[in-house]
Amino acid sequence: MKKRVLSIVLALSMVATLLVGCGNNTTNEVEKTNEVVADTTTDVVVEEGVQVGIVLPTKDEPRWLQDQAQFETVLSDAGFTNQVLFSQGSSATEKTNVETLISQGIEVLIICAQDGAAAAAAVEEAKEAGVTVIAYDRLITGTDAVDYYVTFDSFSVGVAQGQYLIDNASGAGTPLYLYSGAATDNNAFIFFDGAWSVLQPKVADGTFVIVNSSEAVALQDKSELTRDELGTIIGQITTDWDFNKAKSLAEANLTNASTDQKGDVCILAPNDGTARSIADTFAADADVATYVVTGQDAEKASIQYIIDGKQSMTVFKDTRTLAADSVTMAVAILNGETPSTDTTYNNTVIDVPSKQTAIVTVTQDNVKAVLIDSEYYSADDFVGVE
Ligand code: GAL
Repeated sequence: MKKRVLSIVLALSMVATLLVGCGNNTTNEVEKTNEVVADTTTDVVVEEGVQVGIVLPTKDEPRWLQDQAQFETVLSDAGFTNQVLFSQGSSATEKTNVETLISQGIEVLIICAQDGAAAAAAVEEAKEAGVTVIAYDRLITGTDAVDYYVTFDSFSVGVAQGQYLIDNASGAGTPLYLYSGAATDNNAFIFFDGAWSVLQPKVADGTFVIVNSSEAVALQDKSELTRDELGTIIGQITTDWDFNKAKSLAEANLTNASTDQKGDVCILAPNDGTARSIADTFAADADVATYVVTGQDAEKASIQYIIDGKQSMTVFKDTRTLAADSVTMAVAILNGETPSTDTTYNNTVIDVPSKQTAIVTVTQDNVKAVLIDSEYYSADDFVGVE
């Protein structure tokens, strides 16, 4: 394995020592090179080959391109060779991607699953090859081959969305339209569960009337839902995270709704891509006077929608933090240490040690402070922000 010497400035204060692994190891063995002190320039020997492999679900949603950019920055700054591959909505491609990365000698796999259950086979293969597996953003279920999970506080995402609708409902009897993410994504359950935890009491007290889900109506007196009950509702209101599917479902829901189920409405939309297409569909309906619609991810297009008053809120999940948390974990793993975690998530087989990051609700009022002043985006990316 060829080696090259890099002079790097370690910007990450959490990197106290940099350890560089054998390029094609299958044993998680690490080789210690130069000790480096954070925030100093130093020469380190880097093995060629890929040390950290990253697999993301699709390039078709801006959310994952944000993550890719953060990974590439933070991993190269930390001196790791890495490769990011996209599964393009296919679990088969995802498995091939994992196999490709294993053959390139990765020691750590950071993977955001296309389908949380289907990904079990791919990560089991990685584990057998001695790779440490970090589930990224979406939990992989039904296997003990997940070592760690790095995630945002997904329950709080749903709570933030539900609470926003409550705070902006137009009074008793507000029609409520519910939409969810893909049933193959564990997060879709957690988001909906979080939203339900605050919305259900407001359905029970008559603030909201659920319009588009007979399954949710059948369960509206239950404050806590089982996984199966959540699955039954999600089966009826899923967008599959697909904005075209979201649009057709919203159109069908509005076609079936009576005039008194329109007027001033609230819409639980699970993320930004689906929120924009659902919002456009509701905006085009002459019987919808006003709508309040949620989102998630702070995608640029949705930030413009928020500035323009076409989307009500989004939930900002700072991908800089999630990528940095994953890299901190990778450093610890390559260092032979146990990464620090702050909670666990049960994946039906094991409690996966997890690191969880907080989320922030973004509206017209704080969009500049949260996204521009923090330099996540530049004001030039938008029309109407100074
Ligand atoms: C979720 C993720 C969200 C959203 C969605 C669609 O798992 O947490 O941020 O992007 O997938 O890709």
